[in-house]
Amino acid sequence: MTSINWGILGTGYVAKQFAQGLQQLPYAKLLAVGSRQLETAQQFAQAFQVPRSYHSYEALVQDQEIDIIYIATPNTEHYEHCLLSLQAGKAVLCEKPFTLNAQQAREIIAVAHAQKLFCMEALWTRFLPLMQQLPLLLKADVIGEVKLLIADFGLRLKFNPQDRRFNPALGGGALLDLGIYPIALASYLWGRPTTIHSHSLIGKSQVDEQTTMILGHAQGTQALLACSFLTTTPQEALLLGTHGRLKIHAPLYRPAKLSIQSFSEIDPTLTGGHRGGIVSRLKQWRVVRTVYDSLVSWRQQPTNKTFAYQGNGYHYEAAEAMRCLQQGLLESQIMPLAESLSILETLDTIRAQANFKYPIEITE
Ligand SMILES: NC(=O)c1ccc[n+]([C@@H]2O[C@H](COP(=O)([O-])OP(=O)(O)OC[C@H]3O[C@@H](n4cnc5c(N)ncnc54)[C@H](OP(=O)(O)O)[C@@H]3O)[C@@H](O)[C@H]2O)c1
Repeated sequence: MTSINWGILGTGYVAKQFAQGLQQLPYAKLLAVGSRQLETAQQFAQAFQVPRSYHSYEALVQDQEIDIIYIATPNTEHYEHCLLSLQAGKAVLCEKPFTLNAQQAREIIAVAHAQKLFCMEALWTRFLPLMQQLPLLLKADVIGEVKLLIADFGLRLKFNPQDRRFNPALGGGALLDLGIYPIALASYLWGRPTTIHSHSLIGKSQVDEQTTMILGHAQGTQALLACSFLTTTPQEALLLGTHGRLKIHAPLYRPAKLSIQSFSEIDPTLTGGHRGGIVSRLKQWRVVRTVYDSLVSWRQQPTNKTFAYQGNGYHYEAAEAMRCLQQGLLESQIMPLAESLSILETLDTIRAQANFKYPIEITE
């Protein structure tokens, strides 16, 4: 296997997580980092043993030895930085959300196709072992057909207009920052929604601070989703099927544990029918009731599955990007560009329902 040379564009929180994650991959070489200031790039380079540091993003993408650029700038900047990298002939792994809106995504996808370059959204949760096993478990019919998804990602944040998450000029808001995770899960299960009903609370800095959503899908399924900066929610996902339920335990953005319960385990009388009637009559005897109740409580224990991973988990998306590059693939089937676009169309619709536009989208 040949090694792949990475360049990191931006030096903030997630860039540091990613640099640390890359250390898990023997064939990944973090060759260079670019920042808007040389000093910041140098500090980052020193912290993560990066051989080359650049004073600008333009200089970074011109490095002839870089194979792929990881873009870790605020949401409003993804479009420009994807374009910059692709036009310099570099493959791209771009942080979520892929761009600020669907129109920007269409343009980036067209450029990636025209340049014949690999391009992928870094929706890191999708690549974690639990998420990769989920379709296999559902295919094995562990809970029957999934009919309803209930998922949330809320994190109580202190209001701070300087924080990019509250700043509309940097693409802030709970929807793009947190809501994208449950939306991406619904998309993973059922693809593009056919109906969307949502409600957003717009805060004093003019970004959504809380959004609730109901998505409907052609398969006759629904998702009930929420995201928030105003309160910390359970951060779980419940997949409710025709025979049982599957819970992805918190935190939803970093899932490592799930549990499965079939409905007969939850309440055998529900599926008992005639047998349920007999059981109720027999339960009039104390000894039967005691044995029955302890049996039910034993059966109520869900089956837990743990999907541990090494490191901080950011290497899975990087490994997939490298696999694609090594095989000459321009897209990943785990996170195809068409799905990134479809997720952005959903985000656009939800924002339109709240009449929430970012400053760069307002044309007068
Ligand atoms: N996958 C995840 O788990 C995860 C977690 C958090 C965030 N994210 C995503 O990652 C992206 C970055 O988030 P973050 O939390 O890392 O943000 P952050 O800590 O604020 O870092 C953003 C970096 O972008 C660069 N930048 C370029 N233009 C900028 C501008 N106009 N204002 C501020 N910074 C600018 C800066 O690097 P230089 O100063 O070096 O140029 C800055 O350090 C966002 O799109 C976010 O949605 C993903």
